[in-house]
Amino acid sequence: MSRFMSAALCALFVFSMTTANASAADAPGKAVYDINCSTCHKDGVMNAPKLGDKAAWAPRIKQGIAVLTKNSITGFKGKVGMMMAKGGHPNLTDAQVKSAVEYIVLQSK
Ligand code: HEC
Repeated sequence: MSRFMSAALCALFVFSMTTANASAADAPGKAVYDINCSTCHKDGVMNAPKLGDKAAWAPRIKQGIAVLTKNSITGFKGKVGMMMAKGGHPNLTDAQVKSAVEYIVLQSK
């Protein structure tokens, strides 16, 4: 019985690892964006620049990925509104925020 349980748990673990890796391999930033950033950046909630809105992103992209990433990590008050540090998700690592910024920029230029 216990052997069956551990085999089942092991299979479950391997399965969840595989799915996590698969989505991360597809586009590392997309998963982070979908879960943490799309709330505002999909439909422009709180005046957030929308994903794919080239006109809104052009002047921001000009600042460079480094500045955009720093602003996203520390939080940012701009001309149209404000964004909390890491979009209000302090559990995200800096690298995850950077990958989401890169995803947004790729989709919006
Ligand atoms: C609660 C809503 C909200 C969430 C969630 C959110 N943002 Fe934002 N974000 C904003 C708003 C509003 C602005 C525009 C602020 C301004 O320019 O006045 C903004 C601006 C930005 C900018 C442009 C910064 C600049 O220097 O022009 C980047 C990059 C960005 N967000 C990335 C992200 C990432 C990455 C996430 C997810 C980790 C995220 N945002 C989640 C509301 C949000």
